[in-house]
Amino acid sequence: MKPTARNTKFFLFTCTVASCFLMVLALKSPEVAFSEDTPISQVLVALGESLPKHARPKATAKQIQQGKDLIFTGRTIGPNGKKSKYISRFYTCTSCHSPVKEDPSVASFDPQARLDHAEENGLKFLQGSTFYGIANRESWYNDDYEKKYGDLVKPARNSLAESTQLCAKVCSSGRYLEEWELEGILAYFWNNQLKIKDLELSEKETYRVINSKDKSESIALLKKKYAVKSPATFGSSPKRQDLGFEGIQGNPENGKKIYELSCMSCHQDGGVSGVAFTNSKVDFQKFRRSIGKKTDYNLYDIIRKGTYAGQGKPRYMPLYPKERMSDQQLEDLRAYIEVESN
Ligand code: HEC
Ligand code: HEC
Repeated sequence: MKPTARNTKFFLFTCTVASCFLMVLALKSPEVAFSEDTPISQVLVALGESLPKHARPKATAKQIQQGKDLIFTGRTIGPNGKKSKYISRFYTCTSCHSPVKEDPSVASFDPQARLDHAEENGLKFLQGSTFYGIANRESWYNDDYEKKYGDLVKPARNSLAESTQLCAKVCSSGRYLEEWELEGILAYFWNNQLKIKDLELSEKETYRVINSKDKSESIALLKKKYAVKSPATFGSSPKRQDLGFEGIQGNPENGKKIYELSCMSCHQDGGVSGVAFTNSKVDFQKFRRSIGKKTDYNLYDIIRKGTYAGQGKPRYMPLYPKERMSDQQLEDLRAYIEVESN
């Protein structure tokens, strides 16, 4: 029998360890047990939500693997048994997106918490949002991305499949995916969902989710515990670049983390950018001298505006919205560059 709101009844079992819980959803038949590793879509369905269009509950292990290959390396073995064509000659998806959980709390998009988490876990600090839990979001290319991509955002905003196509073609300076490739990537996304444990529900919250008479209340409570969209606010330059953002003092130690975990992930020798930074004084001086000037090395402009792909120049640098790098962090990076240029 399919679980519906009416025939669904929940029980709560609290474990010996206070934080640990096991939810058992007793349906008339069969009984479904939820563990901490249960993807949240299963809980939402048990509460009466229908699956989103991009759901791929029947994806095969092969499809998931194909999606993974495409995301990490840009190609895989296709249905004809041969290696497929690269999606992009310049990037893989993981040049700009982390495939794993990148925020210590999945309910917040605090860039400093993310930077510290990246440092602790050996992750990059990138412009694109994480693929972990991307299938649990409900809109994509949010907010200010409309300013950058215009009408292209319209079909993408409400469709993970369309967003994936937009990124494969436009953001990666690549090509549209074939149907089986898109299926592989959607299978990988579906398999990479947020789990119950990621929501860090307290016992009280768990109790409320399970026992609320109104299922829509339970759903709303769950959705407060994770971000249903990745917000994007485009930042701007300080009024006077020479003085920096008013009232913000840069911290060079924090700036070093940004330089290494973010900039260098693309600008190291052999990275996806054709421009390799050498970590020499000369490089840092070039950045320092460019502050307040209209040059390619203007730190504020490059971070807040990025660069655009143009004729004969398919490689570009994505901008950092404020949720991906705060004004404070930008000043931290500047402070690091200034220290290193002395
Ligand atoms: C050159 C950088 C770059 C590459 C390469 C890239 N992306 Fe993106 N992608 C972005 C940026 C920037 C955004 C907008 C910010 C964000 O992630 O929300 C984005 C957004 C997305 C989104 C919407 C995310 C959301 O929550 O709004 C999806 C889906 C996506 N990309 C899939 C892919 C896939 C699949 C690939 C590989 C085929 C890929 N991207 C390659 C930079 C890139
Ligand atoms: C996702 C990869 C990526 C990341 C991360 C990245 N860049 Fe870039 N950057 C590029 C690409 C690609 C270009 C375009 C130039 C090229 O490679 O042809 C570029 C261009 C630049 C340029 C202009 C260079 C020139 O000669 O035109 C500067 C300066 C720059 N980046 C600084 C930074 C800084 C500072 C950071 C860290 C805050 C950073 N980049 C992070 C990929 C990246």
